[in-house]
Amino acid sequence: MARVDARRDAGLATTRVRQATAFALAAMTLTLAACDAGAPGTAAAAGTGAGVAASATPVAASAVQVAAHEAGQSRAQVYESVRQMTALGKQLFFDASLSGSGKLACASCHSPDHGFSPANALSVQLGGSDMHRTGMRAAPTLKYLQSVPAFAEHYHESDDEGDESVDAGPTGGLTWDGRVDRGGDQARIPLLSSFEMGSTPAKVTAAVKAAPYADAFRAAFGAHIFDSDDATFKAVLQALETFEQTPETFYPYTSKYDAYLAGKAQLTQAELRGLQLFNDEKKGNCASCHISQRTLDGAPPQFSDFGLIAIGVPRNRALSVNRDPRFYDLGACGPERTDLKGRAEFCGIFRTPTLRNVALKKSFFHNGIYHSLDQVVRFYAERDTNPEKFYPVTKGKVRKFDDLPQQYWANLNTDPPFDRKPGDKPALDEAEIKDVVAFLNTLTDGYKAGSGAADSVAAK
Ligand code: HEC
Ligand code: HEC
Repeated sequence: MARVDARRDAGLATTRVRQATAFALAAMTLTLAACDAGAPGTAAAAGTGAGVAASATPVAASAVQVAAHEAGQSRAQVYESVRQMTALGKQLFFDASLSGSGKLACASCHSPDHGFSPANALSVQLGGSDMHRTGMRAAPTLKYLQSVPAFAEHYHESDDEGDESVDAGPTGGLTWDGRVDRGGDQARIPLLSSFEMGSTPAKVTAAVKAAPYADAFRAAFGAHIFDSDDATFKAVLQALETFEQTPETFYPYTSKYDAYLAGKAQLTQAELRGLQLFNDEKKGNCASCHISQRTLDGAPPQFSDFGLIAIGVPRNRALSVNRDPRFYDLGACGPERTDLKGRAEFCGIFRTPTLRNVALKKSFFHNGIYHSLDQVVRFYAERDTNPEKFYPVTKGKVRKFDDLPQQYWANLNTDPPFDRKPGDKPALDEAEIKDVVAFLNTLTDGYKAGSGAADSVAAK
């Protein structure tokens, strides 16, 4: 089942297909599980419950939990502090008063009704003190991040997941360029960014002190927490991180595809054809990066191997940063990420996103250039056979890969469907593109059995 697909083109022998080594979570969950050997195992906690859907045991794990555990608290006390932290994190997530403008909450860009991606179709969201500033990236979903491994330049999957000896290349980390590993460190970015929430630790503290949940905050973090802006800010980050690890909210595994894998739903003919095209190495080959099968130990697929990959997404000329022709968002080599600056092999690579709940999104790719799944799948199918459909044409010449300076083109992926040239047949025809989109629509959480179509085919 594990597909090995060596990637020599980028000078980084990368092998796709590796699974979930939960970022931050796994180690802490282990610590917690050690509290009580009789507890539901680490598998369920990391979202790898073999029972797949709703039954996943809600064992949230976080720094809080570990700290509490290490402080000698009982299992019940640990769970209580996670419960408090989760409730606070949720309130903070929806609280616009944390922002400089007073108008922007985490939820403004990460809408729960849209898989925690934006409710609107803007390529990039508005923020800053006047709510007119923009960044350079589309807001991603916050679901299914529990399995993103910490960033590694050379990733080796564990032996029970695949071949440990193979270097899968740069992998993991949060945000499109993998620049932070923990939810708390991530939350710091939008809170302080001048084009997002534009706040400061002092403003955040003042807001929390004045909030209806101020007493609950004191109860969770200690009576004197508000004495220090830095301590309050850190506590806010911790609560947000804990909230983001609520299994039933952030990784419920309740899509139609999960029900299908569990033998509890049937896919329509179109969805089934789409799945086959998605998996077929000579057609979509999507599953080589967006894993669609369970892991060897039965964990549900995350629809990403979390690899950082360059696929040559066109420049989004609607973004204000791109008015400067010398500006490029090069992903892992900068400018947002700074530790890999000047390392040419990291230029143009972005983390492969999960495709779970992708049908709820309205802007796609790191720069939000496309606004329908049809456009995205067509890009994969025809990028190399009909580049004029995607890139600017000047004086009859197509300027392919116009958002990546030529010195980095060696980093571009050239596996199917990106192995063609003009005149070749696209990897997917019109009908097949539609089928793949139909399949992508089965990845949305909240599927209710019985809403399937008549022309269904049972899972094998
Ligand atoms: C103005 C819109 C906006 C707001 C407000 C916002 N975010 Fe984000 N969020 C983004 C964008 C854009 C990214 C991608 C950033 C990047 O790649 O550099 C992102 C990325 C993330 C990620 C990483 C997702 C991944 O796939 O790795 C997390 C987690 C996250 N945000 C949580 C939060 C939290 C918590 C808050 C509130 C404190 C918040 N966001 C507020 C726009 C926003
Ligand atoms: C070589 C690895 C690879 C393959 C193969 C691949 N993808 Fe992707 N996919 C990525 C990466 C990396 C991104 C993010 C690229 C970016 O934004 O620069 C992405 C982004 C996407 C997105 C946008 C998601 C979002 O949240 O914006 C969709 C949809 C998608 N892929 C679907 C597919 C489909 C369908 C196929 C097969 C036809 C496919 N992918 C094949 C790596 C891959």
